[in-house]
Amino acid sequence: MTADIERIAINTGGGDAPGLNAVIHAVVHASCARGWEVFGIREGYDGLLDPHHYPDGGLIPLERATVRHITHLGGTILGTTNRGNPFRHVVTRPDGRREEQDRSAAVLQAFRRHRLDALVAVGGDGSLSIANELHEQGLRVVGVPKTIDNDLDSTLVTFGLDSAVSFATECIDRLHATAQAHRRLIVVEVMGRYAGWIALASGTAGQASAILIPEIPYDLGKVADHLKQKAAELSYAIVVVAEGAKPIGGDVTAKTREPGRVERLGGIGARVAEQLERLTGIESRAVVLGHLLRGGTPTSLDRNLGLMFGAAAVRALAEGRNGVMVAINPPNIDYVPLKQAVAKMKTVPLESTGIVTARMLDISLGD
Ligand code: F6P
Repeated sequence: MTADIERIAINTGGGDAPGLNAVIHAVVHASCARGWEVFGIREGYDGLLDPHHYPDGGLIPLERATVRHITHLGGTILGTTNRGNPFRHVVTRPDGRREEQDRSAAVLQAFRRHRLDALVAVGGDGSLSIANELHEQGLRVVGVPKTIDNDLDSTLVTFGLDSAVSFATECIDRLHATAQAHRRLIVVEVMGRYAGWIALASGTAGQASAILIPEIPYDLGKVADHLKQKAAELSYAIVVVAEGAKPIGGDVTAKTREPGRVERLGGIGARVAEQLERLTGIESRAVVLGHLLRGGTPTSLDRNLGLMFGAAAVRALAEGRNGVMVAINPPNIDYVPLKQAVAKMKTVPLESTGIVTARMLDISLGD
């Protein structure tokens, strides 16, 4: 299989994750080595749909020099958006009302107009679902899995997770000192909308007394009993909670719920701290790590994953592959059909080693 490619585009979509710039670096280098030109689309697909909005026209030529020293940088030099679905593009009408339009045809047209032969789409489940729909409409696409939440199926890991877990662990380490000094209970809220990978890994590494994740609905009465029993040996406690955790029979804690939109989660940490203070009698505080987990320098693991994924995406295109996502399943880099990759979310399996280990370390998981 070989492909007839001269110019490709790359975009980054959804929440940013440390390692995005490493992917861009690798895609540009590997493409230039083949004599391909690379163009970066601004903010998902918006750069193509709304070029006048951007001083550089929304589509920027990427050369080796442009991406020389970006691998160590957080964020994405292309910008991103989690409201950038061309199939449901939001426009403001002259009367001020907002409406959704299907602009997917305009994206395909822009690819033809700019003579772009293929797209490397770097994103999580939402962005890769969009990429898959565009592929089904005829666009040549290779996806790269990104998310700090690690909830994408078909790949052992996504880049971004390791940086988020490392930073969360460092924060938990710091919180031990102040919690101990004041004999307090500190609840640390971390990201993790549908999956508790960040909470479980950082909470275990950071020696939390309890970890609450979306996969295991919690009973705070049980958590409080566990903490009281531990209070004999430990005069303080750290509880790590994923933003998507919920009580048995209850719902997630959301900041905003808008009809037809993904709700903005947040506030579970404060809620749990308040309830645990009442149940245990231990003075409590809550800390939200939130977007701090997405910013900052990518760890060397995330840089290497990003570089490997970027290079593999170019290899995939050169081999004539289409509609696939690059995945790491050690020792191999695999290519998984995009459709399969976005069909199902990867949550923490209840019998996984991480869960079993946490239980054996006497960490309450809220059940
Ligand atoms: O990147 C995934 C994620 O971190 C989720 O855990 C979280 O709910 C979401 O992004 C928040 O994104 P934003 O605040 O950018 O909408």
